[in-house]
Amino acid sequence: MNTVRDTAALRAALAPARAGGRVGFVPTMGNLHPGHLALVREARRLADTVVVSIFVNPLQFGPNEDLDSYPRTLEADQTALRAEGVDLLFAPTVEVMYPVPLAEQTRVEVPGISDLYCGASRPGHFAGVATVVCKLFNMVQPDLAVFGKKDYQQLRVIRQMVRDLAMPVEIVGLDTVREPDGLAMSSRNQYLDAEERAVAPRLYQILREAAEAVKAGGRDYAGLAARMRDRLDQAGFRTDYFEFADAQSLRPAGPGSTRLVILAAAWLGRARLIDNIEVDLETTESV
Ligand code: PAJ
Repeated sequence: MNTVRDTAALRAALAPARAGGRVGFVPTMGNLHPGHLALVREARRLADTVVVSIFVNPLQFGPNEDLDSYPRTLEADQTALRAEGVDLLFAPTVEVMYPVPLAEQTRVEVPGISDLYCGASRPGHFAGVATVVCKLFNMVQPDLAVFGKKDYQQLRVIRQMVRDLAMPVEIVGLDTVREPDGLAMSSRNQYLDAEERAVAPRLYQILREAAEAVKAGGRDYAGLAARMRDRLDQAGFRTDYFEFADAQSLRPAGPGSTRLVILAAAWLGRARLIDNIEVDLETTESV
């Protein structure tokens, strides 16, 4: 596996691969865990050549967020990617990605959906994500790209960007990979101390309880959400949001919604954890 750090080297390395079949792409911010590696394996299954990127994107971090402390573990990541049979790692520097000052950088805005939930708590976050993913797509020019449902809203933002801008990339969404106790794997779990780590699985448990309540016929989404927010707060979280949404539009779920996603974000110590669960009311099975 080669590691390339600029666009010219990336294009040169990919030119022969492009003639030989489909290019699959997995964009990441590194510090790879089994959740990331599941995406890599899916790309490996679907494509002939697999490209992974590692770039901690300053454009998607707010001024008081963890850009500086975000874990950077390039060597361990390279070892893990090599073991997965990845063909090429693209690890650009900030200067390669953003040669102009960030304030002058052209941005991609995905309206509406970007202002809800995580977008409401993190203004500009999804414009930062859409911009970097658009730019990475232009650099790598993949046939398909794999994203995790762990970041459900991010996946929706990317799908909308690709649709609205007619980008020739197939977007594949993959289920969340979890620890044995249910906690969604995340690089930010490292911010938890032992006591917080013991509490963290409650987030998914409470999401499952909410899903069960809906499957049992509960339709007072506002009331249910308020109850679940209380439960999170009692467990020791500082709840950011807990919402029932239409799985497609991500608008608040209403009486007509048949496919729901329950979305939550909550702080535990200095870690902001996000998770979600899909509920299909037509089959009344949560998936
Ligand atoms: P990062 O947080 O590194 O995540 C990279 C990809 O891994 C995303 O598609 C994310 O949804 C997926 N992922 C993370 N944890 C997962 C888990 N437990 N199970 C399954 N998939 C998981 O998301 C980003 O980086 C950035 O915003 C990025 C898209 C790279 C743009 O900068």
